[in-house]
Amino acid sequence: MDTHQRPLFLITTFLLLLLHHPTSTHSLIDPTTYSTPSAAPTTTSAPTPPATTTTYPTNKDTEFIRSSCASTRYPDECYNSLSGYASAVQQNPARLARVAIAVSLSGARLEATYFSNLSKEADYGADHRVSAAIHDCFSTFGDAVDQLRGSLNQMRHLVPAGSSETFRFQMSNVQTWMSAALTNEDTCTDGFDGVSDGPTKKDVFDRVHRAEAVTSNALALVNSYANTVAADSNFP
Ligand SMILES: *[C@@H]1O[C@H](CO)[C@@H](O)[C@H](O)[C@H]1NC(C)=O
Repeated sequence: MDTHQRPLFLITTFLLLLLHHPTSTHSLIDPTTYSTPSAAPTTTSAPTPPATTTTYPTNKDTEFIRSSCASTRYPDECYNSLSGYASAVQQNPARLARVAIAVSLSGARLEATYFSNLSKEADYGADHRVSAAIHDCFSTFGDAVDQLRGSLNQMRHLVPAGSSETFRFQMSNVQTWMSAALTNEDTCTDGFDGVSDGPTKKDVFDRVHRAEAVTSNALALVNSYANTVAADSNFP
């Protein structure tokens, strides 16, 4: 780049960074999705899965999901939750990572609603630790929702990988926020440590572990996308 182009490049990069700050991008998400808990992503640009999720098991697109999921910690959950998007992903690792984050966001929203519902339910007997733990879970899942939403926004506004520094910065944001979301989901169960086993505790743990599996898989797909790009010989 010659000396005349450089200032313009810096200004453009700076503007891009401003635009990509997660707190300034919330308005880009369709607000109607906040109140629509659903197992499938409901954000406007997330693809709608077909009614049956395992339609074409021999399809190349489906095989791409299966082989990408093989390197995650929960490959079956990964495949089951993402194979419905195979035709939208079209063997594109960036799109797969984005869809995986959208699915994780949608799940975390659902659990936040569940904890909100649960905290309004009447009476847990004399054990106030349960209501405190449920309140904490509502809060940690709310934080996870924010972090996953920021991650999704960042993935939607990635610069071409050729702009290596901005791209690395954006991917490291996504990796940081996804890890934080995973930690927040996990922290939810801490409040139940001293609570004796029962149906509420079991239901909470089952839900939290499902949400964690989906987020952990999404993070693995993000990491493998970042590694794929970094390993590309054209990457500066
Ligand atoms: C929360 O409560 C509403 C109203 O009772 C219900 O329709 C919804 O399914 C509940 N959501 C969850 C995730 O439990």
